[in-house]
Amino acid sequence: MAVELRVEIDYACLQFAYRVGTTQWTWVPQQFDASIVSDEATAPGLPNFTGAFVGVACQDMSGARCPADFVWFEYVERRVESEENTMRWDVAVAGIVLVSTGAHQDALLKDLMPSGMVVGVAINQRQFEGTDAAAVDLITKQFNQISPENVLKFQSTQPAADRYTFDAADRYVQFGLDRHMQVVGHNLVWHSQTGAWVFQGADGKSVDRDTLLARMRDHIHAVVGRYKGKIHGWDVVNDAIDGDGSMRKSPWELGIGDDYVAKAFEFAHEADPDAELYYNDFNLEKPAKRAGVIKLVKDLQARKLRIDGIGNQAHWRLETPSVAEIDEALVDLHSTGLKVMYSELDINLLPNTPRGADPAVANPYADGLPDAVQQQLARRYADVFGVFVKHRDAVTRVTFLGLSDADSWLNRGRMNYPLLWDRQRRPKPAFDAVVEVLRNARQR
Ligand code: XIL
Repeated sequence: MAVELRVEIDYACLQFAYRVGTTQWTWVPQQFDASIVSDEATAPGLPNFTGAFVGVACQDMSGARCPADFVWFEYVERRVESEENTMRWDVAVAGIVLVSTGAHQDALLKDLMPSGMVVGVAINQRQFEGTDAAAVDLITKQFNQISPENVLKFQSTQPAADRYTFDAADRYVQFGLDRHMQVVGHNLVWHSQTGAWVFQGADGKSVDRDTLLARMRDHIHAVVGRYKGKIHGWDVVNDAIDGDGSMRKSPWELGIGDDYVAKAFEFAHEADPDAELYYNDFNLEKPAKRAGVIKLVKDLQARKLRIDGIGNQAHWRLETPSVAEIDEALVDLHSTGLKVMYSELDINLLPNTPRGADPAVANPYADGLPDAVQQQLARRYADVFGVFVKHRDAVTRVTFLGLSDADSWLNRGRMNYPLLWDRQRRPKPAFDAVVEVLRNARQR
């Protein structure tokens, strides 16, 4: 469990406060009797000390606190003679000694997840091709599942009608197989990142239903068939429902009709009968949209099509959706009998601003993330993982969209901080917070 220590100077006296995890700060009375104040202080093998905290290193004694390495603090009480020649006691910090590196540096998410729940990350080309060696190392250590950030999308695997390109996708799949990870496929049918040619005839006009269905079938058979037995599960259809719960008027829907979703699931199952098949979408905490999604998957079930899970993309913010909404959505989605997966988790810290907005408003953390927001992010991650572990029987996978803040799609020219590792690939307080929740859940 992460323990933080805070030191402030008050009338020339040092004041100590500590907190365990994300609880409130507890100020230690000055007469504090040199007893050990946190569980973690029982670190064996410490040199003798008169009073100790185990906390997080404070580089700056003037009150700054920085989540870094475990330290122990020694304080001594010095008897000093005041000018008036009366005796008084003073307190001084005698030293700070590094005890171990990193609050949870050695913690591995994949080992801490509840059984039956894998933890993964959507990876990019520099990662699965090994150019980004530091990332490869972290991905290999921390995760037991991968998703492809872009390389399996329609435009990547079939950029033109007569051309499939699988080189990069093959390396993605191999990356996961080499590491005995669960390899997920994302995605087969989506309105985005799909060449315009797919929906057009030679005359440039919209193709008819049968042609579009044939193209969909060819694509799904080629891609799913190639990785048969290697890809564990596929996002078959992405983002088919609009905010009001109706079918999105995507080029697939316009060209084929509402049953395009059922057809996609049918073709995917033909191509690999053993692969799991998922429906993937965002904003599922909004009741109208969720109702549309549930109606859609129930329709697939009524048609006796294979569907194993619902991917909830989980592109969330600090305050929204609320924990109660996340919980309610989870329970509701699971009531379909399907597995619930968090397929693209990230917490966006930047405001939704129009293009050209004042940079001070649009990009408030260009020079770094204030500690208060950092801690808020940690608490937010603790809360959402709290929901996941509470419903461990329903949730089978949690996948982050990107490894570190440097890798996130949410930057887009700004500085965002949505993930568990910072730009230097150091674990953030949010990582410690997640570890803490997972550890506590194991003890229960
Ligand atoms: C994003 C990728 O992360 C970006 O690199 C790309 O430019 C756009 O797509 N919903 C999805 C993901 O299902 O595939 C998207 O990924 C994010 C939104």
